[in-house]
Amino acid sequence: MNRRRLNVKKIGILTGGGDAPGINAVIRAAVKVATGDYGLQVIGVEQGFGGLVENRMRRLTSKEVRGILPRGGTILGTTNRDNPFHYPCRENGEVVFKDVSAQAMANIKASGMNALIVVGGDGSLKIANQLYERYGFPVVGVPKTIDNDLSATDQTFGFDTALTTATEAIDKLHTTAESHYRIMVLEVMGRYAGWIALQSGLAGGADVILIPEIPFDINKVCEKIEERHAKGKAFSIIVVAEGAKPVDGDMVVAKIVKDSFEQIRLGGVGNLVGEQVEKSTGIETRVTILGHLQRGGSPTPFDRILGSRLGAAAVNAVMDGRFGEMVCLRTPHIATVPLAEAIGEMRRVPLGSDMVRMARQIGVSFGD
Ligand code: F6P
Repeated sequence: MNRRRLNVKKIGILTGGGDAPGINAVIRAAVKVATGDYGLQVIGVEQGFGGLVENRMRRLTSKEVRGILPRGGTILGTTNRDNPFHYPCRENGEVVFKDVSAQAMANIKASGMNALIVVGGDGSLKIANQLYERYGFPVVGVPKTIDNDLSATDQTFGFDTALTTATEAIDKLHTTAESHYRIMVLEVMGRYAGWIALQSGLAGGADVILIPEIPFDINKVCEKIEERHAKGKAFSIIVVAEGAKPVDGDMVVAKIVKDSFEQIRLGGVGNLVGEQVEKSTGIETRVTILGHLQRGGSPTPFDRILGSRLGAAAVNAVMDGRFGEMVCLRTPHIATVPLAEAIGEMRRVPLGSDMVRMARQIGVSFGD
């Protein structure tokens, strides 16, 4: 690969898409390495790509990143709208979408930054790649999402914290399930990938795990519950990924959000499963939708360390001229991959994986 080492003096850092625990660890490490090790200036872009378009930027020094390691969210703010190539503009009281990327580039130029680190999921990394390909602007990506669905990295930071939160929720639901002889359904996030559902379900000892990769038959789910009942097991735990879908139907869409990177907001399949299971088995069933609790709170040690490693590696990548690339985890190392490759393919749960096999072997039903 042809790498251009530039005389970098000032770098920008931007966080886009949904927040994920560990973003502040990335920012902190990037600022410390850039200012300390390389003597660079760092500019934080506020509120995702909107900050580039609207020129909302601020200087970041070691003072601004002090004490942020255990904090969830992002100190820079973020949004999953505001794509400069398809930007919502108000005209005569109406919202029209325009390509304002030239304006974003003019602001970048005026700020004096020589390179930009973009911390984001699929949507934000696609925009970063467009800035790189269309304008040749030096960009380095850092993968972030609680969904863990980016193929080019072994794991995204944020996932471990979301997994921990979901597992704790299952542990807590067990209490009422056991005491009241109920079926408890927990709906978790993950969009089109079942990583959070599968792994929290396994860690929390769920009896049924429904994931987008395996369309479910509600009769099979009920059979599993009834089989447990027949064996004297009076309660059951079902974990449902928000993207899970019945064999004869579609994913449950909570809302169409046209101006977002992802135009479909998922949610509600847990209620569907809960209603059908209660109706068919006659056992009292309650549904909990975990929602954004999975994205909040203090990052786990794993996410703090992974975030820090990726933040430091992103600055190193800038200094090595690895533009148009994304830093990633290739256990046990941190590596880089071309952004174009990184955004090309979603990482979903492989059906032949040992995790799925083990789940089946220990009696977990996927409703198939
Ligand atoms: O991609 C992360 C994620 O939390 C998904 O799991 C979920 O579907 C989506 O974002 C929710 O996004 P929002 O906060 O915009 O509703």
